[in-house]
Amino acid sequence: MCGIVGYIGQKDAYDVVLKGLQRLEYRGYDSAGIALYDGNQLNICKTKGKVSDLNTKCIADNVRKGKIGIGHTRWATHGEPNDVNSHPHVSNSGRLAIIHNGIIENYDAIKKVLENRGYTFHSDTDTEVLVNLIEEVMMSDDHKLGKAVQIALNQAVGAYAIAVFDREKPNEIVVARLGSPLAIGVGDNEFFIASDASPFIEYTKSAIYLEDGEMGVIRLGREPRIRKIHNDKLIDPYIHELKISLDQIEKSGYEHFMLKEIYEQPEAIKDTFRGRMLADKGVIRMAGVDDHLEKFLNADRIIIAACGTSWHAGLVAEYIFEDISRIPVEVEYASEFRYRNPVIGPNDVMIAISQSGETADTMAAIKLAKENGAFVFGVCNVVGSSISRETDAGAYTHAGPEIGVASTKAFTTQITVLSLMALKLGKAKGTISNSDFHLYLNEMESIPDKIEKALQENDHILNVAEFMKNSKNSLYLGRGYNFPVALEGALKLKEISYIHAEGYPAAEMKHGPIALIDEEMPVVVIATRKGHYEKVVSNIQEIKSRKGKIIALVTEGDDTVKNIADHVIEVPETFEAFTPLLTTIPLQLLSYHIAVMLGKNVDQPRNLAKSVTVE
Ligand code: F6R
Repeated sequence: MCGIVGYIGQKDAYDVVLKGLQRLEYRGYDSAGIALYDGNQLNICKTKGKVSDLNTKCIADNVRKGKIGIGHTRWATHGEPNDVNSHPHVSNSGRLAIIHNGIIENYDAIKKVLENRGYTFHSDTDTEVLVNLIEEVMMSDDHKLGKAVQIALNQAVGAYAIAVFDREKPNEIVVARLGSPLAIGVGDNEFFIASDASPFIEYTKSAIYLEDGEMGVIRLGREPRIRKIHNDKLIDPYIHELKISLDQIEKSGYEHFMLKEIYEQPEAIKDTFRGRMLADKGVIRMAGVDDHLEKFLNADRIIIAACGTSWHAGLVAEYIFEDISRIPVEVEYASEFRYRNPVIGPNDVMIAISQSGETADTMAAIKLAKENGAFVFGVCNVVGSSISRETDAGAYTHAGPEIGVASTKAFTTQITVLSLMALKLGKAKGTISNSDFHLYLNEMESIPDKIEKALQENDHILNVAEFMKNSKNSLYLGRGYNFPVALEGALKLKEISYIHAEGYPAAEMKHGPIALIDEEMPVVVIATRKGHYEKVVSNIQEIKSRKGKIIALVTEGDDTVKNIADHVIEVPETFEAFTPLLTTIPLQLLSYHIAVMLGKNVDQPRNLAKSVTVE
C-alpha cells in the first residue's frame, strides 16, 4: 500500500504533488518519487526514505519544473525499499511514467514475455513490468495511451490504482483502479489525482471516486472520460462535494497527529452521536439499521470481520451485542476468515469494521460473505471508501480523518457505533427494558465528558511512561469488556514504541504468562470497579507476590488497588458496557508518551502503513 498523487493544470505540479505526498505519507514511507514533464523532457527524481528526503534530492537535482506531474510514497511489496525500486517507473523508450499502488500478481509471466521481445528491467518491481506492457501495447498496435492502458490492464491480474502519462502527450493523465483507492479532484481547468482527497482538498471540493474496475482519461479542457476497464462502457461520473476541511487534516498545534487524535475523541464521539442518538426522546436513529431491521432481528448470528484495532473493536462489540441484544456473535480476523472455508448462510449478518474502508483482507471477507448470501453491514470511517460502497448498508463512525498510523479515535468511535447498534437492536428485540434503554442512553451521552476527564490524567501518565519506558516486555491484563482493551493497549505500545507487549484475559495469566512475571516485568491491569473487580484484584495480588511492577487502571476513588499497585491511573465510573470507551484513553496516552520518550516516529512507525490494501 502506497500513496499516489498527480496533477495537471496551470500550477507548478511539483508543489502540489510534494505537499500531497506529505499528506499521504501515512500510507507508506519507505521511499518516494516524482515525475515531471518540464516542456522538453521527462524528469524523474526518486529516493529511498521519506518525502522530506525526496524534496532535498529534487532541490539538489533541480527537478521541480513542470505543469504535469505524478508522485508516489511507497510501502514496499515487490523489491526492497531503495532508489531503483521507488516509483515512478519509466518505460524502456523513456516515454511513459507510471505510479502504482497495489500488486500485479502475474507480473513474472508478463515480464518473461516482454523480455523475449527485447525489454529490459532495472528494478525488482511489478510496476515496471506494467508500464512496459502498456508501452508494448501502445507501440505494437499504435494505440493511444488510454486504450493501451485498458488493454494492458485486461491482461494484468491483481490490484492497482495507477496514474500514467506520456511525455509526448503532456496534456493528459490516464488513471485506473481495481482494489486500491483513487480519487480525482476536479478544479478549474486543472485536475488532481490522489489515493484520498487530502492532497487536493485545499484546491477543490469536487471529487470523482473511481469505482473498482474503472479507468479515466483526464485531459485538460474537457471532462474526465471514465469507462469500465473490462467492457469499455462509458460511465457518467458522479461528482462528490467534499465536506472535510484542511484544518481537520493538519495538526492544529499538537506535536503529533496521534496526540491530536487522542484529544479529539470527546468531539469525535459527539460527531458519532449526531443525528443518531436522541437521548431525551429515548431514540436511536440509524438509517442503515432501520432500513434492514428484519435482517438483524432474524439473524442466526452476527459475524464480525476486521483486522488489527478494528478487530479489537469487534471483540468489544461481541460482549455488548450478546449482553444487550442477545444475538450470538463471532469475531473473525478477516485474513483468516477469507481463507478457511467458513460456514456462512443467508441468515447470517456480517458486520465489517474498518477505519480506512480499504483493508484488502476485510474486503475479501465481505466478498465471501456476500457470495454466500449473507447481509453485510459496514462500519467505516472514510466516507466513500471501498468497503462503504461494497457493503449492503452501513454506518459511518464520523471520527474525521485519522492520520496517525496508530488508530485511536477510530477505535472509540467504532465502539460507539457498535454500542448504539446493540442498544437499538436490544430495544427492538425486547431484550432490554425501556427503562434500562433510557439509562444506557443517558449514560452514553455523558461519555464524551468522561473522556475529557480521563484525558486530564495526562500529566500523571507521563510519570507512568517514565516508569515503564525502559522495559523490554510488558503484559496487559483485563477481563470481560476490558479484555479487548488489554489487547488494544498492548498493540498500541508495541506498534509505536517497539516494546514487546502481550494482552491477555486476566484469569488466563495463571495458565502460562504468570511464568514471565519478575521484578523486570511491568503489568498493566485494567481493574475498574464494574466487572469481576474482586477477581482482578486477586490477580493483582498474584502479580505483586511475584514482584511484578503493577500499573492499574481503576475507577475514580478506588483505594484498594492504590495500596497494592506501583501506579494507579483513574478513570470516571460508567456502566460496565461503556468502560472500554474510558479505559482505552490512558492506554493510548501511555503508549504515546513512551514512544515519544524513546524518540520513536510516533505518527509513522516503522514497517506500518495506515491503509493495508495488500493481503
Ligand atoms: C493499529 C492499526 C491497525 C488497523 C488495521 C485495520 O493501530 O491501526 O491495526 O486497525 O490495519 O485497518 P482498518 O481499520 O483501516 O481496516
